[in-house]
Amino acid sequence: MQKDLVSIDLLTNGDVADLLALAKDLKAVYRHGGRVDSLKGKVLGMVFAKPSLRTRVSFEVAAVQLGGHAMYITHGEVGLGKREAVSDAARVLSRMIDGIMIRTFAHSEVEELSLHATIPVINGLTDLYHPCQALADLMTIDEHFGTLEGIRVAYIGDGNNVAHSLINSARRTPISLAIATPPGYEPTREIVDAAHGEIGNRLVVGNDPAEAVKGANVVYADVWASMGQEAERQERLARFVGFQVNDALVDAASPGAVVMHCLPAHRGEEITDSIMDGTRAIVFQQAENRLHLQRALLHVLMGTR
Ligand code: CP
Ligand code: NVA
Repeated sequence: MQKDLVSIDLLTNGDVADLLALAKDLKAVYRHGGRVDSLKGKVLGMVFAKPSLRTRVSFEVAAVQLGGHAMYITHGEVGLGKREAVSDAARVLSRMIDGIMIRTFAHSEVEELSLHATIPVINGLTDLYHPCQALADLMTIDEHFGTLEGIRVAYIGDGNNVAHSLINSARRTPISLAIATPPGYEPTREIVDAAHGEIGNRLVVGNDPAEAVKGANVVYADVWASMGQEAERQERLARFVGFQVNDALVDAASPGAVVMHCLPAHRGEEITDSIMDGTRAIVFQQAENRLHLQRALLHVLMGTR
């Protein structure tokens, strides 16, 4: 596997399959009290420009469980791209620590870090992608259904970071993906076109939730106003009416369909209490798998080089 995890399209199908298999194996090892110390003496720097529960905790726990250490760095205190050039910060960090996980706004910042750092750089969410989330989602789908083959995922909501990484996941695994967004909130054209070029009609993008969930095994929700879009919240609440993942919508999916959400959820907006607290939601198993997937990722990227 290459040095970094910037986006899933930069991985091979084999990388994704290997990572999912390792995550599954390590989950079982740790469940049974086993330990791996591949990060012994190593330090992961975690740079955050946006809030986080899952990403922050799961990366820190994963690093510690592998015998390493994780350091929380606020983006503001480092002043990436402001106090000094991203490329200079990348060179400095490369001489002091063993890996960087970054959550920020501009995806180009992660690309620049990746270009100039000699240590692994992991994208912990940008406005464009959320690859760690999508990889953990694939792990969760595989766990639930026992396969990714023939699984149909319906993503309902905003066509941004999480949707983009799910699109790239469909390019690297056998899942099919139907996306329904309000008009004007579709995923980025280039990402959709690249996927269509590779997987044709295994990706369908439209504006009708009822159509998207037909035959779906997974109904997937994300917030309507992402981090950084708080000022658009009221407008989005109006635009996204009809895109709520509720019992009626999930009833129209395939029998046995499950509901996923990257979390945090805005209950009563994109998803109902009834779904969140009901038997069809696998959102907390999904959240837990962030830890297991990222433990495997840190082992591969930082533990074996
Ligand atoms: N799903 C996710 O990335 O959660 P956090 O924003 O809490 O890290
Ligand atoms: N789309 C959401 C995902 C949060 C994990 C956001 O960017 O805020």
